[in-house]
Amino acid sequence: MRVIIEPSAEHGSQRAAAIVAQLIRKKPRAILGLATGGTPLKLYQELIRMHQSEGLDFSRITSFNLDEYVGLPPTHPQSYRHFMTENLFRHINIDIRNTHVPDGRALDYETYGSQYETMIDEAGGIDFQILGIGRDGHIAFNEPGSSLGSRTRLKTLAPETIRDNARFFGTAEDVPRLAITMGVGTILESKKCILLAFGKEKAEAIAATVEGPVTAQVTGSALQFHRDVVVILDEESASQLQRRSYYDEVEEAHRRLQSGEVK
Ligand code: GLP
Repeated sequence: MRVIIEPSAEHGSQRAAAIVAQLIRKKPRAILGLATGGTPLKLYQELIRMHQSEGLDFSRITSFNLDEYVGLPPTHPQSYRHFMTENLFRHINIDIRNTHVPDGRALDYETYGSQYETMIDEAGGIDFQILGIGRDGHIAFNEPGSSLGSRTRLKTLAPETIRDNARFFGTAEDVPRLAITMGVGTILESKKCILLAFGKEKAEAIAATVEGPVTAQVTGSALQFHRDVVVILDEESASQLQRRSYYDEVEEAHRRLQSGEVK
């Protein structure tokens, strides 16, 4: 895992956007895995800015979102499809037919889950997965206890997640109890992934994910098995990491390599 600690969420999001933009320029038909929640918002704003002022071209990009609440139609203001439309898709030139968000109203979720997996496979697999993390260390909606080999399926939300997401719905009673989510195994198959976390309320989850043992109780920790993960943090979310000085050293070494100071 490469751990990059930036001074703020703004800096972290710009760093992440630069990595995404580099991939898009190199591979205009890239398959992106997208996340929702408060964390990636600044990253999406930066990608929109790059599209509008630097011509970053999304016209041949395909996207797959991680998850969706069960029972919400795509037009519901709290559905993740609506979130993506409002916060990214309608501001860039992505072809909406190439954007995929799990269907929260599929009738047969088992069949639908494997269809979603097949769609990802047929597109060529996810080149680049963007991830946030829940306070309990979950990625997508893979709540504590999720199998680390899991695939796209139905998941019952944990009480902490319902409480955390109540801020978007008004009350906890209004938060759906079920979601359809990519599995941990699905996420581990992405070719590259970026985990973003900002703010002190994520510090514990990040310490467990990056430095703790791999456990289904903290599904983010499964990323320790991923072939290419970049973790982008701000000072607050990094505050409980034990090996902070080493991560800074690694970044310094990267900087020197890039600037040609090290041959
Ligand atoms: C939800 C989403 C996750 C997200 C998490 C954290 O559970 N399913 O993908 O990472 O919330 O959200 P936020 O970024 O708002 O803290």
